[in-house]
Amino acid sequence: MDRFIIRGGKPLHGKITIGGAKNAGLKLMVAGLLTAERLTLTNVPRIADIATMRDLLVQHGVGVEDLNGNGTSYAIGGEITNTEAPYDIVSKMRASILVLGPLIARCGKARVSLPGGCAIGTRPVDMHLKGLEALGAEIRLEGGYINATAPKGLIGDRIVLPFASVGATENLLMAATLAKGRTEIINAAREPEIGDLVSCLNKMGARITGTGSGTLVIDGVDALYGAEHRIMPDRIECGTYACAAGITGGDLKLVGGQVDDLGAVVRALEETGVEVSQEEDGMRVRRTGALRGIDIMTEPYPGFPTDMQAQFMAMLAVAEGASMITETIFENRFMHVPELNRMGARINVHGSSAIIRGVHALSGAPVMATDLRASFSLILAGLAAHGETILSRVYHLDRGYEAVEKKLAACGANIERVKG
Ligand code: EPZ
Repeated sequence: MDRFIIRGGKPLHGKITIGGAKNAGLKLMVAGLLTAERLTLTNVPRIADIATMRDLLVQHGVGVEDLNGNGTSYAIGGEITNTEAPYDIVSKMRASILVLGPLIARCGKARVSLPGGCAIGTRPVDMHLKGLEALGAEIRLEGGYINATAPKGLIGDRIVLPFASVGATENLLMAATLAKGRTEIINAAREPEIGDLVSCLNKMGARITGTGSGTLVIDGVDALYGAEHRIMPDRIECGTYACAAGITGGDLKLVGGQVDDLGAVVRALEETGVEVSQEEDGMRVRRTGALRGIDIMTEPYPGFPTDMQAQFMAMLAVAEGASMITETIFENRFMHVPELNRMGARINVHGSSAIIRGVHALSGAPVMATDLRASFSLILAGLAAHGETILSRVYHLDRGYEAVEKKLAACGANIERVKG
């Protein structure tokens, strides 16, 4: 398993190119199941989860052609010859559950493994299943699999989500594009990645309105067609590198970064003492003064994103004063805390809140990645720490971030990957 060796203490200066959004790209690839024609996606991030999603789609029978041979543009399309999503793929990547709605909508049936939990929580899919049943699917759970049929096709309906679940919104949205009649999804998630998915689906011939409003209205059509779509920039990658500028006291240009997609994160950065500005080619982030402690609560968009919680905690660990972070989305997303404390942070977890008492400096140590965003919080801590940090289990990081060590080293970080 690869490891990172980081020697901290240097402010980062330079440019980092923000790639295509993982949490848009994965769903846009799944949208390719909704038509036999070619859906061409560009600005695809080269990360492990995208490769896993490619494997999943290929085993369904559709083609996933790497158009320029370097994993940045895919053409997806063809006939579905297998409507089963197997446990060995779904358990590796939970986003696989999103093939359920499209398979039922296009083929009238699906057999998809239940994803099971992951490091940050039990991650149930009850809202996905109840919503699909509302659209007329018959769902039976057996042997760890979801067996779904809709022999007469799906029928539009009004669905109220008890929680603004990103995945449930996306699964139901895609299924509804080919349902008969109108579907309304009330309390739909409003994340920008869903807007990107809606934009692509409408290019494919879907009829969807209400992006960002919390209510999505989908008028079903008989078929969807091929289209071309450029994946939006990854706002979480952008926010993550903004924390790198903040924690090291550096000055970074995040090329392709959009302040508008990161509203609550930008406000939190500025409250902490980090300056953020939108420039022609991206987002500029720098910190010249002291970092100040703040309180944060994670919420569905447009609130502070849970996917930025671990990264912010690393930065607040060296801020002046105390901070409190309350995690309201996932029940177990503080696994970076013990690792940060091993580096000298002073963080106490009380239920869904973490109290952070800022320290003057962290010290490098051997630490272990536990999940995607926690991995990066430990890198951020290592970039600011005195001495050497060795981060193991970097495969967690490679699932969702492209070329981290290259992007950071290009801005002056002393970081190297040791293959192992
Ligand atoms: C998506 O996960 C993202 N993943 C997550 O990013 C992100 O943290 C999350 O949305 C919230 O923004 C992808 O897009 C691939 P949810 P998802 O359904 O769709 C509960 C990352 O680091 N819930 O909004 O699974 C669930 O347990 C990843 O990039 C139910 O109870 O998130 C959780 O507590 C991590 N029943 C909460 O809702 C359901 O049927 C939010 O889940 C569905 C969800």
